[in-house]
Amino acid sequence: MNNKAIGVFDSGMGGLTCLKELNKLIPNENIIYFGDTARIPYGTRSRETIIEYANQDITFIKKHDVKMIIAACGTVSSVIGSGGEAAGDIPFTGVLLPTAQTACSRTRNGKIGVIGTAATIKSGSYGKAIRGIRPDVTVIGNSCPLFVPLVENGFTGRDDPVTKLVVEKYLAPIKQEGVDTLILGCTHYPILKDAIADYMGDSVTIISSGEEVAKYAYNLLMSSEMLSDSEEKGTNTYYTSDSVELFEENAHAFLGDTINGKVYKVSLDELY
Ligand code: DGL
Repeated sequence: MNNKAIGVFDSGMGGLTCLKELNKLIPNENIIYFGDTARIPYGTRSRETIIEYANQDITFIKKHDVKMIIAACGTVSSVIGSGGEAAGDIPFTGVLLPTAQTACSRTRNGKIGVIGTAATIKSGSYGKAIRGIRPDVTVIGNSCPLFVPLVENGFTGRDDPVTKLVVEKYLAPIKQEGVDTLILGCTHYPILKDAIADYMGDSVTIISSGEEVAKYAYNLLMSSEMLSDSEEKGTNTYYTSDSVELFEENAHAFLGDTINGKVYKVSLDELY
């Protein structure tokens, strides 16, 4: 048993889709969440910058004496892979492997679509991870650079004409290939899930990377006997590098509820 907190980080709010799932699966765990909202987006930046930011995020999370670190960010996971070196001997996972494993077990026709940020798709990481598990699978990827700004600005409704147009633009090439499974390789994208599902149709299974990494973390903690034995409800503590008010306001869209924990501001100086 280990009653230390679980550390979760993302470039912004997207990783809350992972936190929400963790709260559902293991409500007695304490969670430390860091959203680097002052420096989002990561997905349009260079590999070097993403690695630098990811290492700073991990170092910040480590200061809170956590038992595990989750990079709930498709971009960070794709660029650093399983190499969260800054995590040292603390168990570390990104979203890549758990999501690829689930997609491989779900596809029936062997055609998987992956959408993510420019950095995620450019890295080819999902293709490599999926073919490492199932070499017979064809992977069709597309980057969706307008999805994060759509989410951040509240264009998320399934009937919103702007959202529908952008969804069609990015997903048409993937739909044309006849995929039966679609990976939301960026943790912001579940907020657009209704619009994406409407466009892709009922026959396509949609997999959310934030949810998958939460399930993976739960199984890992269980098998290594590191789950909390507390009988009390755990606490969520949030850190943001930008405005606390904005974080609290925007969190609602990701959590489907008002924020359930204290939010603290982290200055960028603390990260460098
Ligand atoms: N949540 C981030 C990801 O999963 C996307 C936002 C960004 O570009 O930083 O890739």
